[in-house]
Order: sequence, then C-alpha cells, then structure tokens
Amino acid sequence: MLPEAGRAKAKVAIFISGGGTNMAALLYASRLPGCPYEIVLVASNRKDAGGLTLARAEGIATFAHPHKGMERAEHDEMMERAARDAGAEYIVLAGYMRILSEEFVTRWAGRIINIHPSLLPKYKGLDTHARAIAAGDSHGGTTVHLVTPELDSGAILQQVEVAILPGDTAEALAERVKLAEHQLYPRALADYVSRGNDPAWLIEQLRQRVAALPEVEERPSHGAPGWRTGGKSGKYFAYFSDQHHGEKAIALLVKTSGPDEMHALIENDPASFYRPAYYGASGWVGLVLNRPDLDWGQVEHWLKRSWRSVAPIRLTSLIDAAEEF
Ligand code: GRF
Repeated sequence: MLPEAGRAKAKVAIFISGGGTNMAALLYASRLPGCPYEIVLVASNRKDAGGLTLARAEGIATFAHPHKGMERAEHDEMMERAARDAGAEYIVLAGYMRILSEEFVTRWAGRIINIHPSLLPKYKGLDTHARAIAAGDSHGGTTVHLVTPELDSGAILQQVEVAILPGDTAEALAERVKLAEHQLYPRALADYVSRGNDPAWLIEQLRQRVAALPEVEERPSHGAPGWRTGGKSGKYFAYFSDQHHGEKAIALLVKTSGPDEMHALIENDPASFYRPAYYGASGWVGLVLNRPDLDWGQVEHWLKRSWRSVAPIRLTSLIDAAEEF
C-alpha cells in the first residue's frame, strides 16, 4: 500500500449527497503517511450536504450544483467538468444518491468506484439492511465495487461482513455497517489505485493476455513464472520478473532480435525498457510494468512478437493464415 518514494498520488474526486461520513474516512486516511491517493475535490448535487462544510473546513475544494430542472446527462457533465478541472483521475461515490448516465459511467470505466451497504450481489438498490434482516441473514455488510451502467453490478473490489444481532433494527445495523465502511473504503481505494504496483495484479493481467496465444504453458523457471510454447520441449518466450536481482522494475522479459535491438530500445525509451540481469546477454529485454503510463497494447505486441520468434512453424502458420483473413 505504500507508494514508492516520489511516486505521484492518485487524484480523487468524491461525490456525495449527504452527511459524508465515508468521505471523511477517505479524507483522513488520505492524510496518513504513505496513502497512495489524495482528495482533490468533494462535489455534491446538494448545496446543503453536510459533508461539504467539513471538506471546506479541511481545505478541500468543493463544488455543488442541484440537479433540479436539469437533464440527467447535463447534470452529470457539470459534475464531471468540476472533477476534471480539479485534475481527478478517479471518481469515488460516497452516498451519492443519483443514478448516473450511461455515457458518463462509460467515459470513466475502471476509474469510478462506489460503496454499497450490502454484501453484493445480494440486495442491490435501497433498504439493504431491512432486507437482510427480513431474510434472516446472519450477516449484512458492505461492498466496494466498480461502477458500470447497471446499478450496483460492477466488479467487486472488496467486502466486509457485519454480524446481524438478535433483535437488530435496520437503523442499528446501518450504523455498524458504516463503521465497517469507514475501515473498508480507504483500504479498498488505496489498493485499487496502487494495483499497477501489485505483482499479483500485474501477473494476472499477463496471464489473461498470454492465454490468447496458441499452445502456451506457464512453467516456473528459476523460481519466476515463465511461459513457453510448442509442447513438452517447447521454448520460453516470456518471463515475469518481480524486482529480481535488486532491480527496481516489475517487468515482463521478452525476446528481441538480439543485443543490438535490445540496446536501441533502451536508448530510445529508457523509462519502458531495461537490460535484465543474465537474460540481457542473449538479447532479452525487460519491459517495465510498474509505471503509471503503462500501455497494455505494447505489452500485448511484445508478447505476441516474442511468442512468434520461438513458436514452431506449425503454430505460426496457423496464426499467419488467421491474420490473412
Ligand atoms: C453509505 O452507507 C454507503 O454505503 C451508501 O450511502 C451511505 C453514505 O453514508 N452508498 P455517508 O454519507 O458516507 O455517511
């Protein structure tokens, strides 16, 4: 969770409609040492939202504009403009009681997050606590999830369960769920904005892309995950390197045409490429994955090229035929 020294913090705009206790939890967490995000704006569709007063007192920029009399998309755009003007890279909903237009959500896909007071996928929408109690559930809880056009249905990032007590009321449970939310939201947001530095997340992204190539097998080599193609005696075309040999990078190692190309790549773009220990001698290059402007298209390009350079002809000819279509 600690950002690397000097690494820029992710800029976050929080949208609220009410008291903003989750906003406060996010804000104070952002002021602890090492938090990888900072709050650049608190925005609301209600001028009287209690959270705005607190945000102002804490020196955070605020924006408020009522939605009354406005088209949904028009109001969304106004909120969005305020977020962009503040430099936000993420929008975090914390009790923002508005359904967002599909266009807006799509523009922020993967960068807009919500907290919902139930263990999703159970109890989307309102009255979550009363519904959990009425169903006789042993636990309620809360979920941090990505926002997609369909309400409360985006990918789940993290959840916490909260026990339901005998004789619990919806109000009493809601209060305890909020305590859990105040722990969960800052942590889930910090983990999410830091995912580009998380080896487990990075390797999962690689696995998904490697799976698109024919006849590939993952097999550790010298303790690091590697991928080879061409069956039992197949050759390696990629390795995952997590700060090996004291290197700073979490990287994908791929084959170039040889040391000349490797050196040229590094010279042209030293932020993206480096000469990996041992492998560099035979013309492999390290493609740095833990950097903010990583282009996954470039990663895919290198995986494919490297695969092609070692794959047997029976496999490359299949791909050639498919690509000719
Ligand atoms: C929270 O319970 C959250 O799960 C839901 O709205 C409530 C907001 O509360 N989306 P607060 O304004 O953060 O206190």
